[in-house]
Amino acid sequence: MCPGSHPSGAVESIQAEQLRRALAGEPPGVLAGRPRKTVAVVSGKGGVGKTHFALNLALTIGDRLRIPSALVDADFGLANADVLIGLDARLTLANVLRGELLLKEILVPVSDRVWLVPGGSGIADLAEMDAGRVRKLLPELSCLDDLAEVLVIDAGAGIQSAVREISIASDSIVLMTTPEPTAMKDAYGMLKSLVQSYGTGRLAEKELFLFINMAFSEIEAREAAFRMQTVSRKFLGLELKELGYLPHDIRVSRAVKAKCPLVRLYPHSELTERIERAARRVLASPDAAMPRAGNDATPGKAGAWRRFLQVFLAGRERGEKEG
Ligand SMILES: Nc1ncnc2c1ncn2[C@@H]1O[C@H](COP(=O)(O)OP(=O)(O)OP(=O)(O)O)[C@@H](O)[C@H]1O
Ligand SMILES: [Mg+2]
Repeated sequence: MCPGSHPSGAVESIQAEQLRRALAGEPPGVLAGRPRKTVAVVSGKGGVGKTHFALNLALTIGDRLRIPSALVDADFGLANADVLIGLDARLTLANVLRGELLLKEILVPVSDRVWLVPGGSGIADLAEMDAGRVRKLLPELSCLDDLAEVLVIDAGAGIQSAVREISIASDSIVLMTTPEPTAMKDAYGMLKSLVQSYGTGRLAEKELFLFINMAFSEIEAREAAFRMQTVSRKFLGLELKELGYLPHDIRVSRAVKAKCPLVRLYPHSELTERIERAARRVLASPDAAMPRAGNDATPGKAGAWRRFLQVFLAGRERGEKEG
């Protein structure tokens, strides 16, 4: 069995117990210096390893760095983060947005400090729903802030408006690509579409990270990163911070087939170390809870998820007015 996983079938009782304990515990953010942020993992081309990376990043932050985290499966094309941990989540964010369930009823505990918000077509529904209606659900949706301080959002691939809207509402964006020219061209296209929609200034306020996956050598990874950074700086005026790279490695595929996250199956591997270094870099920046200029979230120490939803909905409302 996958180390650290729950026996299948026991999810509901574990969920109830963990929710009770988590909600009864200390409110988040009370420890000084703790990050409260949303991190969107995006790519231009599909299949570059976002879901695998996002899941392992959330697990590393929660289990290894001991900061409560959640993985929000917002890949409206094909939500499958649950499958990577050997679960088949039937109740998703879509049920919450339709008013059928509460958010806490769909949350899946992945470990003591990591939660999964199963996606389905959830965020796509969120993007299509009347923003005013979703706004009414905000107080209930915000309960995720009582459980997690870092939200890793698996935001999907491509230049669809929902991927852009998730990116711009997040504090940090991790742009993933492989060193293949097609993947890099699409990653650049993704960044360019963000600049065209929101302007360089709004993007420059965010932390933009670049992660290279499936590199066949360190040189290949470095060259890919250098090329992406150079074109982004020259043509878009954006600085991409290097988050690191993962080599192409058969163990990733083994972990996916075993439905066991890599950091659990190979806790002492170089791959796990690389993911942990990336997690530390993501968390190294200042607390994102205080909005910077141009961020239209309510000022103050709002939770990261609530802030994300507010910016996301404000964008929707603007879009609705313009449309
Ligand atoms: N570093 C790696 N080495 C080898 N295989 C990898 C690596 N990273 C990911 N993979 C493989 O690539 C495949 C796609 O990974 P994943 O589903 O995470 O990509 P994705 O970007 O989320 O795809 P999609 O855009 O379809 O959602 C998986 O089968 C996984 O095993
Ligand atoms: Mg995916």
